[in-house]
Amino acid sequence: MRLIILGVPGAGKGTQAKILSEKFGIPHVSTGDIFRSNIKNGTPLGIKVKEYLNSGKLVPDSLTCEIVGDRLAQNDCKDGFLLDGFPRTIPQAEYLDETLKEMGVSLSAVLNLHVPDEKIIKRLTGRRVCPKCGKSYHLLYNPPASDNSCSDCGTTVIQRDDDKEETVLERLKTYHEQTEPLIRYYFEKGLLITAIGQEEIEDTTQAVLEALKNVD
Ligand code: AP5
Ligand code: MG
Ligand code: ZN
Repeated sequence: MRLIILGVPGAGKGTQAKILSEKFGIPHVSTGDIFRSNIKNGTPLGIKVKEYLNSGKLVPDSLTCEIVGDRLAQNDCKDGFLLDGFPRTIPQAEYLDETLKEMGVSLSAVLNLHVPDEKIIKRLTGRRVCPKCGKSYHLLYNPPASDNSCSDCGTTVIQRDDDKEETVLERLKTYHEQTEPLIRYYFEKGLLITAIGQEEIEDTTQAVLEALKNVD
């Protein structure tokens, strides 16, 4: 399965992608996670992208596309992948089309995980993430253990630098201006599938699996 998951910041892309990637046995490729791990490790890429992430702006297409191209060329992506946070602009989508064409493969579907903007601020300001395995938690909806450790790997969870209210508003604006046009782009290609994000993570997973039931 070759899948893209689209949605506003905080829609639950990462949460669902992690579940789907385990269920379908395909790698979860998140450009946001790749950038954050490079920032954490102080790599040249991390130094280049830090300001963009912290201000809620997009990393330039050329740099982002190069990273994704390298990632998709790795062996584990040969039989499928789940892209989370890429593409985010029309040029990125066109780059992906070209790359997949060169690989001789095509997308199975594009899942649009819909959540209204009003719900996002609360979700993102309460989010905590595991810096090691990337699992997302929420102080109210999906709390980590009482010692703040990740249930999967035991690492202490942290708050993301871009989850301050001011940056969240900027990320939503960036999404509506630059990423939302992809919904039409993939609709016109006949690839778009929509699932409505629910109040509970498990209910969202049910909605997502229902939406994907005829996709292989
Ligand atoms: P990225 O890391 O992709 O961030 P994002 O799109 O803003 O999305 P998030 O990771 O914040 O949200 P999510 O949808 O994954 O939600 P989650 O599952 O965590 O990108 C970060 C930055 O990197 C960008 O701003 C940009 O600078 C750069 N970047 C990345 N890709 C790029 C690209 N292609 N081009 C250019 N720049 C790029 O859930 C959110 C919270 O809600 C969690 O706390 C979770 O526990 C909770 N939650 C989840 N589901 C539910 C539910 N159903 N009910 C209640 N709570 C829930
Ligand atoms: Mg995410
Ligand atoms: Zn973890």
